[in-house]
Amino acid sequence: MKDILTELEDRRNNARLGGGQKRIDAQHGRGKLTARERIELLVDEGSFEEFDMFVSHRCTDFGMENQKPAGDGVVTGWGTINGRMVYVFSQDFTVFGGSLSETHAQKICKIMDMAIQNGAPVIGINDSGGARIQEGVASLAGYAEVFQRNIMASGVVPQISVIMGPCAGGAVYSPAMTDFIFMVKDTSYMFVTGPDVVKTVTNEVVTAEELGGASTHTKKSSVADGAFENDVEALAEVRRLVDFLPLNNQEKPPVRPFFDSPERIETSLDTLIPDNPNTPYDMKELITKVADEGDFYEIQEDYAKNIITGFIRLEGQTVGVVANQPMVLAGCLDIDSSRKAARFVRFSDCFEIPILTLVDVPGFLPGTSQEYGGVIKHGAKLLFAYGEATVPKVTVITRKAYGGAYDVMASKHLRGDFNYAWPTAEIAVMGAKGATEIIHRADLGDAEKIAQHTQDYEDRFANPFVAAERGFIDEVIMPQSTRRRVSRAFASLRNKKLKNPWKKHDNIPL
Ligand code: HXC
Repeated sequence: MKDILTELEDRRNNARLGGGQKRIDAQHGRGKLTARERIELLVDEGSFEEFDMFVSHRCTDFGMENQKPAGDGVVTGWGTINGRMVYVFSQDFTVFGGSLSETHAQKICKIMDMAIQNGAPVIGINDSGGARIQEGVASLAGYAEVFQRNIMASGVVPQISVIMGPCAGGAVYSPAMTDFIFMVKDTSYMFVTGPDVVKTVTNEVVTAEELGGASTHTKKSSVADGAFENDVEALAEVRRLVDFLPLNNQEKPPVRPFFDSPERIETSLDTLIPDNPNTPYDMKELITKVADEGDFYEIQEDYAKNIITGFIRLEGQTVGVVANQPMVLAGCLDIDSSRKAARFVRFSDCFEIPILTLVDVPGFLPGTSQEYGGVIKHGAKLLFAYGEATVPKVTVITRKAYGGAYDVMASKHLRGDFNYAWPTAEIAVMGAKGATEIIHRADLGDAEKIAQHTQDYEDRFANPFVAAERGFIDEVIMPQSTRRRVSRAFASLRNKKLKNPWKKHDNIPL
């Protein structure tokens, strides 16, 4: 009996060594943690339960039958994050470069199936050379099996990808279908075709970092939602994110203890809006002053900064925030900001996360590059996402809400539950100057008359009361009481029930 127990321990120790000490040292030498070290940091101490530690590949080509490391390049299992269950897979670069074989894929599929069945998030840590070259089509099939599960899990359980090494070729499409992608600066990259192929096909010379590093994907492509300095920071931030999310689409997000009165008054907000309507101010100040303990988890912080997306808590409950940022492009909507916010709104709606929308938007960005790039369809994504969302929706217009952008930004007409405006709100088809130049074109040569017309237009429309008279704004609120008003609004909506008509699925303008 004792021998058997010892054998188990020996086998386990051997499996834990992955591709061997030399390769583990090489992994550390690159500033990367091993697959198991990453899991240890991700989940609560001692909570990880591993599956399939002894699985090995079945390939007999290219001498592979003589190298059968236990675990086959991926560590899979489940554990808890602050006591809440998550499923995890972590690719082991020390074993055949973390490449994906048929059995490696089966291990991932097994935990994804369990995650869907048991209603818990899947967190995938990617560090892989891609398809196991020795296995050929068996590996490609394995990828497709994972893809199919990503699709089935979408909207059922949150899926989070952390890229901590190479992720190239078709392998990128599994993370691409998950809800959030995080990358580690300098040690991770993602691309469909690498620098060598790019050079051959397009003659462009580009480094792996430039082509698909963390900076590229968080600032230019928007493929990734956040970039972190190292493995440790990335995993700590994933834990923080998971705390905001429900385990699955049948559950509400967790309610955390809070130490911040929902009644808190912020008198400084009464002077947040500058006197000059064209002077910017920082919308993040409003977000952090409304949030419990000022805690804001921003998503896609470095991309399309004219719109801000992220999570806060109000009375301990998760709320998704979408806010125009007047500091960047005057907070206008454009292709990038519409796409960014639309995806965020859809994620929130999938997982029953109420949405707070803070509006200061002068309209859509004009120009050929926007029109040629399809701003019509991209803007429609955000409009569609808001309109289909059935979660509680509370909107506060702080300053401008002009034109179509007024409609889009969770207006009353898109089933906004509470639509508040600050007294500084201006709700109109466009700014006074533009409006005057159109409706009083005949007077354009007469500066005095134009000034008078502009003043008249401002007096009539540069306020929230025309909309409030029609009931499009439920209440004009004092800026200082925004946290209290918004918290009470969401509290009143906790039992909201709203269903869209049955359909197979919608046809959002992709
Ligand atoms: C099998 C692989 C492998 C792979 C790496 N290794 N990639 N084994 N299949 N895809 C092995 C190496 O042989 C080596 O084994 C070990 O992993 C570490 O690799 P190195 O090359 O020494 O590491 P490094 O210099 O850091 O380079 C990492 C790398 C490079 C950039 C990922 O290994 C690489 O380019 N690999 C091939 C990538 C690739 O072409 N993959 C297929 C892409 S197509 P030893 O024994 O020496 O430690 C694809 C399609 C997916 O993935 C389609 C889905 C639909």
